[in-house]
Amino acid sequence: MDFATARTLVRAATLGIDDLERAIAAAGACAAVDFLLDEIRPRLRLSELSEFDQDTIVRLCLQAGAETVHRDLVVRRNGSGWAFGPSGEHPVAAAAVITQDLAEALRGTVSPSGASAATRSVQWRDADDFTAFHSPPAAFRVVQRLLAAMERRDDRDLSALAAHHGSDKWGLHNYTPHYQRHFEPLRDEPIVLLEIGVGGYQDPTGGGASLRMWRDFFPRALVYGLDVVDKSAHDEGRIRTLLADQADPGSLSRAVEPIGRPDIIIDDGSHINKHVLSTFRALFPLLRPGGKYVIEDLQTAYWPSFGGSEQSTCDPHTTIGLLKDLVDGLNHQELTERNPRSSSTTDTQIAGVHFHHNLAVLDKGLNLEPGAPSWLARTQPES
Ligand SMILES: C[S@@+](CC[C@H](N)C(=O)[O-])C[C@H]1O[C@@H](n2cnc3c(N)ncnc32)[C@H](O)[C@@H]1O
Repeated sequence: MDFATARTLVRAATLGIDDLERAIAAAGACAAVDFLLDEIRPRLRLSELSEFDQDTIVRLCLQAGAETVHRDLVVRRNGSGWAFGPSGEHPVAAAAVITQDLAEALRGTVSPSGASAATRSVQWRDADDFTAFHSPPAAFRVVQRLLAAMERRDDRDLSALAAHHGSDKWGLHNYTPHYQRHFEPLRDEPIVLLEIGVGGYQDPTGGGASLRMWRDFFPRALVYGLDVVDKSAHDEGRIRTLLADQADPGSLSRAVEPIGRPDIIIDDGSHINKHVLSTFRALFPLLRPGGKYVIEDLQTAYWPSFGGSEQSTCDPHTTIGLLKDLVDGLNHQELTERNPRSSSTTDTQIAGVHFHHNLAVLDKGLNLEPGAPSWLARTQPES
């Protein structure tokens, strides 16, 4: 990569996207990708990861107009090095494929203000592997480091903290950018955060990644993690674990009683619809006004194996059915007689319902805004 091309690209990356696309076209997509990899390389620090017992490959597909440039990041087994190379030269198949618009990737990597990652997708080869669900594949840490290097993540950034602690809330899922936006106003407050589901399942010492991530994100928070398995091995400093079965509202209420009123509750436990609903009924009243109630992994609402429904996407026994009903509750003042609604206490206690892929964030707050004036016609005049 010659210096003049690098200088043109780095300057264009801080201008408008059109300027950057023109600069990429002038330099050639392959040269622009080489420049991008030169920027990423020193930030990766992959040699710190030593857990690979086989070569691991993550493929980058960078799109510039009709052209796509492919590069493989090969991490060799037993910490014996890593390198970017042309795709498909290594006999091992890529564990994950990251696809993104090249101009957006360049902007995110070199522009001081960063950029969105709206055109990025991450596809996993072993997404269907059962063991990958319980313990993320080795390539997960490589993908996290690569994404962090491409986004100039710093220590104010929740996705960087997820990568640091090994939480799958970023990398496998894409939850942390949403959390960052919703939780930022509470960041420096002395809050109480409760997460259902510590992680690690039957292993008492497993999991705990998200608790440590929350501890570092909220410097004044008390962080509680509740699990059906004793996870007290993770108790340290501002982190405490609680032992209870979320399927049993009585045991749940008794376990959380000593912690007082939480400001944030996150349900990342069994993801069984019945449990998520009963947990919401038991814990939402405890949440402090101004607090956030979060439900993760909403995909199970569509899966009968988790008590979800294939028959109706509005089934009130599913999390998605509950959340859609809360949306009507938000607008309960506007419903007409043809849409009767039996009132619920949450109608006046939820001020916002935010949906993201597999994630919902509820704002607890007064919803007493009156409906539109009565003289505004609600029904179509007879023709
Ligand atoms: C997806 S993991 C949690 C991951 C963790 N929150 C993180 O982001 O690192 C789910 C956890 O929920 C726990 N769990 C499963 N069923 C539960 C139940 N009925 N009550 C409480 N915890 C449960 C499991 O033991 C497991 O550790």
